[in-house]
Parts: sequence; structure tokens; C-alpha cells
Amino acid sequence: MIRFKAPYFHLSTSGTSYVMKITERGTLEHVCYGVRITSDEDIPCIEESGRIRLGTVPYADEAHQTVFPENLLMEISAGGRGDFRSSSIELWKDGSMLIPELKYEGYRIYEGKADSFPASALADETVSTLEITLADPSYGLAVILRYSVYEEEDVILRSMRLENRSEDKIGIRQASSLLLDIPYGDFTLYSYDGAWARERHETAHELKSGITVIDSKLGISGNEHNPLVFLENHRGEAYGFNLIYSGNHMESAEVSPFGRIRFISGINPYGFMWNLEAGSTFETPEAVMTCSRCGRAGASANFQNFVRKYIIRGSWKDRERPVLVNNWEATYFDFTQEKILALADEAASAGIELFVLDDGWFTGRRNDCAALGDWEPDRERLPEGLKGLADRIIEKGLMFGLWVEPEMISINSELFRKHPDWMVRRHENEPVVCRHQYVLDITKREVQDYLFEKLSAVFSSCCLSYVKWDMNRTITDYPDPDNGQFLHRYTLSLYSLLDRITSAFPEILFEGCASGGNRFDLGLLCFMPQIWTSDNTDLHDRVAIQEGTLMGYPSSSMTAHVAASPSHQCLRRSRMESRFNIACFATLGYELDLCSLSMEDKLALRRQTAFYKEHRTVLQRGIFSKLVISSNQRFWYMTYGKETMAAEIQTLNECHSGREDRLFFPDAKDGCMYEVSARREIIPLSEYGSLSKGKGYVESEEFSMKVSGNVLRNYGLPLGPQFTGNGVDGDMRLLGDFGSRIYVIKEIENL
Ligand code: DGJ
Repeated sequence: MIRFKAPYFHLSTSGTSYVMKITERGTLEHVCYGVRITSDEDIPCIEESGRIRLGTVPYADEAHQTVFPENLLMEISAGGRGDFRSSSIELWKDGSMLIPELKYEGYRIYEGKADSFPASALADETVSTLEITLADPSYGLAVILRYSVYEEEDVILRSMRLENRSEDKIGIRQASSLLLDIPYGDFTLYSYDGAWARERHETAHELKSGITVIDSKLGISGNEHNPLVFLENHRGEAYGFNLIYSGNHMESAEVSPFGRIRFISGINPYGFMWNLEAGSTFETPEAVMTCSRCGRAGASANFQNFVRKYIIRGSWKDRERPVLVNNWEATYFDFTQEKILALADEAASAGIELFVLDDGWFTGRRNDCAALGDWEPDRERLPEGLKGLADRIIEKGLMFGLWVEPEMISINSELFRKHPDWMVRRHENEPVVCRHQYVLDITKREVQDYLFEKLSAVFSSCCLSYVKWDMNRTITDYPDPDNGQFLHRYTLSLYSLLDRITSAFPEILFEGCASGGNRFDLGLLCFMPQIWTSDNTDLHDRVAIQEGTLMGYPSSSMTAHVAASPSHQCLRRSRMESRFNIACFATLGYELDLCSLSMEDKLALRRQTAFYKEHRTVLQRGIFSKLVISSNQRFWYMTYGKETMAAEIQTLNECHSGREDRLFFPDAKDGCMYEVSARREIIPLSEYGSLSKGKGYVESEEFSMKVSGNVLRNYGLPLGPQFTGNGVDGDMRLLGDFGSRIYVIKEIENL
């Protein structure tokens, strides 16, 4: 709900309140963001007295000697007038920086939300919007601050429109989507960082003094730092932030000399300069923010809900995502139609639902040095073309999916020979190379048209259910002129291309990818309901990657594959069942040579797909949470309605540990009874090495108990002994190194 009762704007969601006020000087200030304020009468009690004296710090004017811009809680700051903290806008005209004094001009409240682009959350009756206009007539500048309120999810979207009402061009060097000043408190900033094959590992930055910056300069949202950020303090107060944008972003948290925290999020000012022509406007992307008293776990749950409901859209929004097999790690570039069909046979008999043909299906693509841009099926490799192959795969009862990498061009390609000027580059020097490939300039209309036509022809040439849209390099060497505008234009052009293609093929399930998870963000999720999380499919490495990703994104949007052992990324050996236990907390797939699996692994695979389908609603629609017991043991939970999937995840097997592990479920309700059962796994006898002479497999322990919520939550349910060097019986748990076990927890009755 949004209310204006002079001088306050009060935005409330089911659990939070966000308050601003118009001051008697005609400026806009922030009052508070936190737990819901139930009576407006409380607002003046929350407001600071404004009587603090700050020595030599500049004050607004002689009539306001205790109004120190450096210490005010702001909604936007342009700097240059006594607020020395980071600014959220920076504007230039004729070589000079503008120092605007933004004064309140008016407001508008309406149901729904502005149809802004870059991609935004859906407009419908569940959202209402407040627009506040601030202006500085001396510069002919107006700023419209926008707040869209999603009550049920405790989410507020922030964005801004800059209007040039003057006769001259204004240069925008920075226009951040969100500025939030938190009055006080010791906060830790959590960011999600990494590199290729190590995406979104959580990092804690204690905010003591100075500025902590999280950003991407890669041209895409990037794997180095995701735009997802949380601030959390010791009292369990947490704020969550994300940005609906796929290009360069910057999030910064600054501790002011007086202990205030200023958080800013938006397009990265690095390399950015937008020319705002006279009479024109500039829209920032939307920033998403939430607030919770249950720490960042609570803020994360709000984000998972919000993204599932209002970012992901299209015909696959709420549909169960199919279990797929992808041939990449099974074959890489070395495949024939025969090999593909053999994999498809195995997949069909194992209960897999979708076959994805990855890189290498088009003419000239025998390795990663050539052919990007051409998109003509390789007739030598696929004698019956894509249609012939797709038909055969569909006959086996599978859906058919295809890999493409449209935004790229190889020098060794027909496309480059015909259109060398379509490559992103500057004229004075050679562009840097990445995986032997270059970026196509999709900001050119003719390039977008070429891609749309080419891809449309491929997508309609066969019965296609799924497309993996890859992007395997970062963007460099932005062309002149106006290269300060290039990266933002690239992102906007990507969105128009995706809009065109996904609207033309509404039934296709699109999966984003960028060398794994190099572009995992809310902008992309507006067009593609799921994204390839990481090229690293190792079960142990995946724990941190998936935990980090699930902090901001729902499990259905995150894809995870069971791959080979030893892992192709780190050579770690692991059990097929343990790999599944990690991968199934996401949209599940397989990416290994199904034809060369042992009998035990084939059996395990069949049981896994059946288990996954039985519990798919929980695993794909549930809310994720975790409990870290020690560096050696943690629990994952996915809860949907009365059912929870819990995974106990172990790092190393501890010999002679002398204790039983316990299953805790922090969300168990005191007055309820629960039924807990373990998923039974196939344990190949080869795991016992020379301790067993037998061949074949044993089944993991049978475990089924009824227990009260009180015990599950507070005491933990003893799970029985693990194999620790002596004695084996049928009930002993054999997890081993990097092992895990899944428990199905069902709330069965109220006590
Ligand atoms: C990078 C992706 O992340 C992989 O899954 C695979 O599709 C390769 N590209 C193919 O070139």
C-alpha cells in the first residue's frame, strides 16, 4: 500500500515499511526502511530530532544550521553541495559537472507499474507505484524517482527517469537505480563472487569504514560479482538488493564518518557516458530491494518468491521443467548422429524427458575455432539434418533441444567473410580474443534482423522444445563513436532481440548460459526461465555455487547436471547417487556418457529420475534454506506446502567419530508430527574396495520415523551410525567422502 499524508510517503508491504518525507525546505529525505509500522502516528517518533551539531561540516544555509547534507538520509544524491558520500547521479554539461539542487515538484500514485525497459517485472494488480518528481529548473533537469510495491512478497522496486527539459545536451556519467541510507548499525555485506567454474561463492565483507564496491566491467553481469547483495546485522535485520539488468553493474556500500551506511546499486559508471539530448529521457533499470527481520535467509526467501512470481514469465513460468540430458560433456565436439541416437536411447529408457544437442551441430564447427555466426546444420555429421535427428529423438519419447551462441562471431566463418564490420571492435587496434571468438555488434539493426531470421529458420526447421542460448566471452573494444553508450545499448539490444525471438517461439523453453554462469541475472530471467549455473558440475564445488545462487534466485531457474566421475573440472571421484543428491535441488539434468555407465549406475539413474519426478514440485517450486552444522556437515532444505526435501551433505568421512549425526529441521512446527524417510540409494560394492569380494550393489539403509516438530527442530533426529572403519550391518549409513543423503520430511498431523 502507498499512502501520502503530508509530509510523509509511507510504502508498506505485509511485513515492511518504507518512509520518506518532504522537508520544509522542499527537499525529499528518507526516514526509515524496516519492520512494518502499523500506525502512522509512530512515524514522527522514528524520525531523528535533527538537532545534532557537527562542528565544521557544511550546513544547508544560515536558517538551517543543523541540516548537514553529509549526514542526511537521502533518496538520491548528486554531490557537490556538502554531501561528500558517494553520489547516485553524476551529470555533465559542456565540460562541467552539474551540481543540481533537486526540489520536490509533485507525486503520482497508480495501480500497476510503468512498462519500463530494461526488462522489468510484470505489471498487474498486485503492484502499485509511487512516482516522486524532483527538479532543478536552473538546469532544466527533472528526476522521477519510482517505487513499485509488491506487498505480499515484501519487495519494493526502485528506478529513476531523468528528463532533460533544457535546450542543451546533458551527459549522464552515472544514474544509479537505488540509493538507500541506513541510519546506523554494524552491517556485514554479503556478495556472490567468483570466476569461471567458481561462480557465486558467498563473501562476507564487514563494513567498518570506507567504500566496499561490488561490480562488473565485463560487459555482462558476470561471474566475478553478481548484482545480488545482502546487508545484515547482528540483530537479524537484513536488506537484500538485486538489479534487473544484464550489463555492467555496480553496488557500493559506504560507511560515512558518522556511521551511516549508504548503499547504491545500478549501471556501472565505469566506461559509461550517456548523451541525454534536449527534450529526451533516460530510464534506469529497476533495482529490487527487500527487508527482513529473519536475516538474509528471510530476505533470500522473499527474493526466491518474488523472482518466481514476477520475473520469470511466459508459457514455462509455472510448468514443470523437464529432466534433460545434454551431450556436451559426453562427447564435446566428437559426435556422430549414431552416437547421439545411442545416448538418446539410454536417456529414454532411464526416464529422461529432453535431449539437448550442444555445440558442434553446424557446418564448420569441429572445434571452438570456427563457424560462430553461420548456423547451418552440418550435413556430414547430421545426414538427415536437424529435422531428421529431432524426429528420431522424438520417436523415442523425448523432446528435442538445441544449443546456439547467437551473440558471437568467429573470424573463420562465412558471416565474418561477408560482414567483417559486424564484429565489435575499434579501428585503431586488434580486438582482444577470447576462446578464439569475438562479439557480434547486435546494436546494429541489420545484425539483429540477420540473427532473428537465421535463428527463426533453425528453430522452425524441426520440432524444437528447448534452446540453450550460450555467450562465451566478455565484451571489450567497444566501437566508436559514443563508446560510453555502447555497453548499455548492447544490453538493450540483447533484450529487444530476446523479446523478438521468445515472442516468436513462445512454447520453446529457453535456458541462458554464458560459459556456465557468467550472466546469471534477473534481466536474463525475464526472457529465459532457467540459466546454466556453472560449467563446474563437481558435486563438492557445486555446494557453494548452488547455495550462493539460491540466495537470490529460485531453484527452478538454476540448472544442475549429474556429470561424470572423475569430474571433468577437478578430477574428483564421487558416487553417482551423491552427485544426484546435489543436482536435484535445482532443475535437473544429466551430462555424461550414459552409454558407458555401469549397471549399478544405470539402475541408480532410473531410480533418480523417478524420485525427482515424484518430488519435482517441491524441488522446483520450494523455498530453499540451509543449516550449517560444521565445516564437515550441512543441511539443505527445499520446502513446498507440507513437504520438505532435506539433504544431509558431508565433506569428508570421519573415521571413528563416535557419534550419530542428527537431522535438524529448523522450520518444523512445535505442534505438528512429521514423517521422515531416507531416499534409498544404490551403493556399488566396489566402494568397499578390497573389503568386499562381491560384485553388484547394496541398497542404502532403510530409515523411516515419525517424530514431533519439537524434536526435529530442537533436538535433531539421530540418523544411525555411519561406516567408520569397523562393523557393517544393513542399517549402517555409507556416505563416504563428499557423500550425502536425502530425507523426505512430511508434515502429517497436528498434535
Ligand atoms: C559453454 C557452456 O557453458 C557449456 O555448457 C557448453 O555449452 C559449451 N559452451 C559449448 O561450447
